[in-house]
Amino acid sequence: MSITDADMDFRTPELDALASRVIPAQHFLLRTEDARDSYFTDTSKLDAKQLAHDRFRTNPLALHDHLVHALDLRGTEELLDLGCGNGEILARIRPHLAAGHLVGFDIAPAVLNAARQRLEGVATPCDFVEGSADDLSAFATDSFDRGMAVYMAHYVTGLQACFAEVRRVLRPGGRFVLATDRPASMIEMWNVHFAALRDMDAPQHLFRATPKARISLDNGAEQLAPHFAAVERVDWQDQLQFGKAETFMAFYRSCNYCCAGSKPGEGLPPAFFTELEHRVHARVQAAIETTGYFALTKYTGHFICS
Ligand SMILES: C[S@@+](CC[C@H](N)C(=O)[O-])C[C@H]1O[C@@H](n2cnc3c(N)ncnc32)[C@H](O)[C@@H]1O
Repeated sequence: MSITDADMDFRTPELDALASRVIPAQHFLLRTEDARDSYFTDTSKLDAKQLAHDRFRTNPLALHDHLVHALDLRGTEELLDLGCGNGEILARIRPHLAAGHLVGFDIAPAVLNAARQRLEGVATPCDFVEGSADDLSAFATDSFDRGMAVYMAHYVTGLQACFAEVRRVLRPGGRFVLATDRPASMIEMWNVHFAALRDMDAPQHLFRATPKARISLDNGAEQLAPHFAAVERVDWQDQLQFGKAETFMAFYRSCNYCCAGSKPGEGLPPAFFTELEHRVHARVQAAIETTGYFALTKYTGHFICS
């Protein structure tokens, strides 16, 4: 029997109702500068996030399995990874491109350096280039067979310029895969987070939702359509199941407390986060005592553009 995620459907009417109740109209809007100067000045949060998504998943297929499928590789392609981060995904995909060429591209020097180190010594040629995804002038026209942007496009301020650049550097017949998720993804985390904020009578500006206003699975197709002849949306689901509140808390921290802790020094003292952690932990612990685990339902996927 082949492993498939075709039957992984965690969506329920209760979760849909929760999403419509819990997700506010206003979203956090992240910027390229936030990525470079705040979130990815070291790899610790990205490392912790990737670990949790992989360790606590219940979908037998991992993110890179879905990407390998979407990229439709022969093994010899030249691949550009926009916002490659610490190179975790590039390293997983590399065996499928052993006779190809990988280029990791990122705005944040610390994570880019980690990617370089991670792929150090592999025989597949790899290059790492620092820059912003809306300016790919470092690359000649028609220089890649494949491009991918994995959970990074919501940071890119000039998204239309980015897609035009991707089209330019892709060879005719090339393919671009953009991975993102729906704003309702991991609604259970936003639910406990907002409940704790309400209990604390927290400042109103924190009651904003996921950082997926700029681009998500819900609004990505129309943004990509002007640049590609064909855009196909592929949805898949997963459910992270945390058996211990402490391990969930590490994940919650790596998500910058659902963006509440994104900008250190914006007026929220450390005591605020201590209390927030305490309250979120109590809710997650209660769920674990009732259900055996705390679930985060992921509505994720990608666009395949050609
Ligand atoms: C959430 S991480 C994802 C990393 C990797 N793609 C993954 O899925 O593991 C987002 C990455 O995008 C990078 N990034 C954000 N804005 C960027 C931009 N304008 N150009 C290039 N990279 C950018 C960040 O530095 C960070 O490494």
